[in-house]
Amino acid sequence: MEFSDTVKKRSSIRAFTNTPVSNAQITALLDLAAQSPSGGNVQPWRIFVLNDDVMTRFKQTVQDNPSPEQPSYAIYPDQLKDPYRTARFEVGEMMYTLLDIPRDDRAGRFARLAENYQFFGAPAAIFCFVDRQMGPPQWSDLGMFLQTFMLAATDAGLATCAQEAWAMKPETVARFVGAPDELMLFCGVAVGQADATAPVNSLISKRFSIDEFTTFVS
Ligand SMILES: Cc1cc2nc3c(=O)[nH]c(=O)nc-3n(C[C@H](O)[C@H](O)[C@H](O)COP(=O)(O)O)c2cc1C
Repeated sequence: MEFSDTVKKRSSIRAFTNTPVSNAQITALLDLAAQSPSGGNVQPWRIFVLNDDVMTRFKQTVQDNPSPEQPSYAIYPDQLKDPYRTARFEVGEMMYTLLDIPRDDRAGRFARLAENYQFFGAPAAIFCFVDRQMGPPQWSDLGMFLQTFMLAATDAGLATCAQEAWAMKPETVARFVGAPDELMLFCGVAVGQADATAPVNSLISKRFSIDEFTTFVS
C-alpha cells in the first residue's frame, strides 16, 4: 500500500471478528513500531501483549472485577475548551447515531462504553505502559510508537482501536499482566480483523482544516 493510502485507511475499529491474529504478526508490528523516534532515544514504551487463551482469560477477569478503580490519569482536562470539546462531542454523537443509541438511552450508552472493556471483541491487544518517572515529552513518544504500530497494522491488513478507556481499570490490567509498580498504564490497543458488517466501523471522524490548527508565520 502507498504510505498515504495507509494513513487514510487507518481508522478506529470498534467491532472485530474473532479471526485470530498470530503472535508473529504482532511481533512484526512491534518491530516496526520500535523504529519510532523518541527524545534522547529513551524509547519509553513498555508493552504487554494479550492473545489467544490469555485474552480469553483477561476478558473474563475484567468481567469478574467490575468495581470502579482509581484512574491512572485524567483522560481529559476538567473543563475541556472549545474547539476540542465540540470535536469530542461530535465524534461521540456520530458513533452513537451509527449504533442507533439515542442520547436519553443512558443504559444503552453505558453498555456500549463497557464494550471497551472487552476490546470490542478483538482477539488480541497490546497494553502500553510508561515508567511513572516520565513526563509529557516521553508521553508524546508513546504516541509516536502507537501511531507507527497502528499504521503498520493497517498496512498488514489488520484493524486497531487505541483505547485510553483502560486508564479507568489500571489495577486489574497491571495485576493481570504483571506490570511492576514503577509502570503506569497509558492505553490499550485492540488488534484484529474489522467486522465489515458492523455499522459502527463506517464512522469517518472529522478533522479540523489545516488553517484551524496551523499558522504560517509571516
Ligand atoms: C490515545 C488514544 C486513545 C483512545 N481511546 C479510545 C477509547 O478508549 N475508546 C474508543 O472508542 N476510542 C478511543 N480512541 C479513538 C479516538 O476516538 C479516535 O482516534 C478519534 O475519534 C479519531 O478517529 P479515527 O481513529 O477513526 O481516525 C482513542 C484514540 C487514541 C489516539
